Amino acid sequence: MSTLITGIGELTTNDPEVSGTALVLEGDRVVWVGDGEPAADTRVDVEGRAVLPGWVDSHTHLVFAGDRTAEFGARMAGKPYTAGGIAVTVGATRAASDDELAANLKRHIAEAVSQGTTYVETKTGYGLSVVDEVRSAKLAREHADEVTFLGAHLVPAGTTADDYVDLVRGEMLDAVAPHVRWADVFCETGAFDEDQSRAVLEAAAAKGLGLRVHGNQLGEGPGVRLAVDLGAASVDHCTYLSDKDVELLAGSDTVATLLPACDLSTRQPLPNARGLLDAGATVALASNCNPGSSYTSSMAFCVTTAVLQMRMSVEEAVRAATLGGAQALRRDDIGVLRPGARADVHVLNAPSTTHLAYRPGVPLTRAVWRAGVRVL
Ligand code: NIG
Repeated sequence: MSTLITGIGELTTNDPEVSGTALVLEGDRVVWVGDGEPAADTRVDVEGRAVLPGWVDSHTHLVFAGDRTAEFGARMAGKPYTAGGIAVTVGATRAASDDELAANLKRHIAEAVSQGTTYVETKTGYGLSVVDEVRSAKLAREHADEVTFLGAHLVPAGTTADDYVDLVRGEMLDAVAPHVRWADVFCETGAFDEDQSRAVLEAAAAKGLGLRVHGNQLGEGPGVRLAVDLGAASVDHCTYLSDKDVELLAGSDTVATLLPACDLSTRQPLPNARGLLDAGATVALASNCNPGSSYTSSMAFCVTTAVLQMRMSVEEAVRAATLGGAQALRRDDIGVLRPGARADVHVLNAPSTTHLAYRPGVPLTRAVWRAGVRVL
């Protein structure tokens, strides 16, 4: 079954060698890009609209139950965000049934897809016991494209940090590893320090998992340094960066994943995207959808914020939310539109991607194909 998408007004391929006004999808792949109208089973004329790869949301926390509206309200009234709020969601998640957690996951992923997201990473991290982390990983694997083990999200009540780190890098890692591709650590004051984070990440790497780090979210710290040193695919947040951190990222393969919706929702400053890009670092944008620090699935909101408030150009922001996310997940078949890529296509109800920032807050997703299946 092949589909010709034609009449494209502006095509973002993220590949300088590939351009045109039409695409052909076959099965779950893009098979042709160019000018012209090759024969296909179905023809869709997008009448001059902009077409781009689906958003790659490389950082979410969607295995959760419960709600933290009250915490958010208190924050907007002046209370600071702290890592401790995670414990509230851990309680609600442990108490929820598998069906309830799966329904939440499906609902949030469907919400994201309806806004142009076609590839979603999600994490464990609201279970924090062997049983609950394994359950979270298995549920995530059923519904998301990529899964990350975040047992080291917070030290749960009733244990010491040292005992918990031993559990995470031992029995918990052994049990969760078969279900995930990545491991992550919240390396931050109030969560895990540098030595604890390193211990977990080294154990995960020894098990063959790829590495990611939550770092430099609430203040400067060792997160970026650790991520670069261990060859992590991505260090996420990067809200507080020293000049040295920027230099380290620019000289490495570690992607700086920026989460502007989180910074706004926690009343933190927005990250220094301009400094990172000008230094030559690879930047991704992601939603960080979770009930505590960033309860949005809207990648368009992140792109708009990056352009209007972080001095990224539209091209840079769109690239960071598509190709940048793919690089943060070390994949070369998503976030691009070229023959062989996954057929993840986002049609805007606008003639150019500039409208994402020019018309802030306006829902511009018109049509979406995810792995070749039209889902909107
Ligand atoms: O990425 N920073 C740590 N983890 C999440 C927050 C989770 C929460 O507050 O529930 C984040 O922002």
